[in-house]
Order: sequence, then structure tokens, then C-alpha cells
Amino acid sequence: MRTIYLDYNATTPLDARVREAMQPAFDEAWGNPSSVHHVGQSARALLDDARERVAATLKCKPSEIIFTSGGSESTNLALLGMARQLRSHGRHIIASAVEHDAVLHPCEYLANNDGFEITFLPVDSVGRVSPNDVREAFRKDTILVSIMAANNELGTIQPVAEIGALCAENGVLFHTDAIQWFGKLPLVSVADFQADLVSLCAHKFHGPKGAGLLYAKSPLNPDPILHGGAHENERRAGTENLPAILGLADAIVQFVPSPAFPMAQLGEWSNLLIDSVDSIEGASFIGDRDPNGRLNNTVSFIVEDSDSIALLSGLDLVGICASSGSACSSGSVTPSHVVKALGAPDSSANALVRFSLGRETSLEEVKLVADFLPRVVAQARGTNK
Ligand SMILES: Cc1ncc(COP(=O)(O)O)c(C=O)c1O
Repeated sequence: MRTIYLDYNATTPLDARVREAMQPAFDEAWGNPSSVHHVGQSARALLDDARERVAATLKCKPSEIIFTSGGSESTNLALLGMARQLRSHGRHIIASAVEHDAVLHPCEYLANNDGFEITFLPVDSVGRVSPNDVREAFRKDTILVSIMAANNELGTIQPVAEIGALCAENGVLFHTDAIQWFGKLPLVSVADFQADLVSLCAHKFHGPKGAGLLYAKSPLNPDPILHGGAHENERRAGTENLPAILGLADAIVQFVPSPAFPMAQLGEWSNLLIDSVDSIEGASFIGDRDPNGRLNNTVSFIVEDSDSIALLSGLDLVGICASSGSACSSGSVTPSHVVKALGAPDSSANALVRFSLGRETSLEEVKLVADFLPRVVAQARGTNK
């Protein structure tokens, strides 16, 4: 059976050049970068060089980069690390209702264990946060706002620069989870987000899994969430995963200024899938139809009288890999909190399908999926004649 992979928002295959860039850390530079001897120091030189290349690409200082084990660690470090440090200044945090669990759950943890109060902002019918709602949610004790740059389930792009400017005016720190943004849309400088803290992870744009970073604008220094050695300038204990960091650095240099995802082409092809969804009775596209308001590699829809598991299994049976939104909840019937935040009932939140196209997607594959989709949906709804 032919595999058609349309789940690029979940993860992407490792790029061949990135794989090559990782190789020295498996071979000659296998030492511990903290060792004083020359074997360790050759690994240290590669680590320092990777940090400098990342900083030069993102246009920030090397000391503003904290390498982590991936997206979830970066968001946890931003939220837990800053909240704990600033708790004597205030215990109020603002986030949106459509954040990834990697932001929602640390927020809930802070509320349940550390006496924080969290305002989860509503979103409009396409999943967008209003900067005005952020302004109205500010309190004297607000210390941090966290709004994602682009949503993983719908692709909706948030007005982060505007929200970041508002936060700066109000003296409140701003974190953006830009994990779905990097590698898809071009970025000239990390300062473009107008954020104090930015989370990134490599496997979303052809880098290795287990590698990410948190940009923390100088002089911010989040409290570590991993304790032990003095790695990463005492901000993250643990011997550095040098192969992954070299891969992360190469993916950033290659794909952050000029994205890996051919978005203009993918946008056109996504329209074929949207047309197919629109032609199916009981199926509704969700998200922003404006290609500038959405990561337009992403097409999400819900199906009446069905559920994600039936739909995804039906697609998988014919070789098509899709998702019900966030990868961690596919395989279970956890309703999508993003769909719920749009005001849809639980039955719709259980019936989300997301296609996300990527660099290796072909027009032929998209046409095949667009053709198959009505049949798969009819089968999943038990209405196939
Ligand atoms: C928007 C967003 N934030 C955070 C994460 C978590 O990243 P990871 O699973 O690599 O830790 C993901 C991954 O799906 C994501 O899409």
C-alpha cells in the first residue's frame, strides 16, 4: 500500500543535510563538552559554534539561546521558570484557550500547585485571539502572557507582534510558542515576534527529535526546571545532546530564513482538499479560509455523526496519514480543546481531522486524497451505500 503522509504539523522527516551536520558528534566529537581535556573541548567547540550560528540566524545574542530537549521543555522552562522567579511580583498569567497542552498544562500546574491564577482568553470563530481581550485581561499582578504564533490544529496565525507590543507597554513579559511557525513562514529576526521568550523545536522543520531551544531576551534568566550541573549558563542542567543540537542548528540555518515548507504551492494544493471537504455533506472546514491568516499547509475539518478515530482509521486503511489535531491525543478520543474553544459541541470536538502538507507532498497525492475523502467520510459515518 502506498503511504501518503499528510501529518507534517506532527513531525517531519530528517533532512539529509541536517543528518550529515549531526555526524561529527557521533564520530570524532563524541566527548562531553564539560570535560577539560581536548576530547571534551572539541565537542565544546562544536557546541559553541552551533549556538553562535543559531544566534546569528535568529539575530540575537548567543547567551539568549537555551538549548532544550524540545518544544515541551522550552514552553515549560518559559512558563515555570519565569513564573516561579516572578511570583513575588504577581501571580496572574494570561494565555489563550487554544494553546498547545505544552503551554496549557504548565499553566494549570502553576494554578493548582503554586497559587497562580490563569486567564484563558477566548478566540473568535477561526481561533484567533483579540489583542483587545489581552489588554482587558491585564491586572496589576499580571506577570506573563503566553500566546502561540500559529495554532497546531487549525494553523490560525495569531497577532503576536501586536500582543507583544501591548505587553511591553504594560511591563508584562510575553512568551510565544512559535513551534509551528518556524520553518513554515520566513523569519528575519526573532525580535519580529516582539516577545521576551520564544519556544522553538527542530523536528517540526526537518530537524531531529529531542532538540529545541528557548530564546530568552537578555537580561532574562528563567529559573531552571532541571537541576544539577551548571550547563546552559546554569539555566538547564544535563550533558548537552550534541548530535541533536548540531541538527537543530543546521535546520535553523537552512530553514528559518527560507522556509522548508513551500507554502505558496501548498496553499494552492490545500484548496483542493478544502474543496473536497466542502463537497461532503456533514463535513465542515474549520479555521481561517484567508490564506494569509492561516498556515496554509493545514486543512482541518469536523464531521457530523462521526468521530476522529473512525475517520483517521478509515484514512489509514487506504494509506493516508492524518491527525485529529495534537499528535499526543490521536489514538484516544480526547475532544479537541481547540474545537471546543470555537464554541462547537463535544461531538464536533471528537470528530476533528487535520491534514498538514509538507515539503515532500506531491500534487498527485493531494488529488488522490481529495478523491478518496468523500468515500472515507461516508464509510466512517456509516452512510456508504
Ligand atoms: C504548538 C506546539 N507547541 C508545543 C508542541 C510540543 O512539542 P514537542 O512535542 O516536540 O515537545 C507542539 C508539538 O506538537 C506544538 O505543535
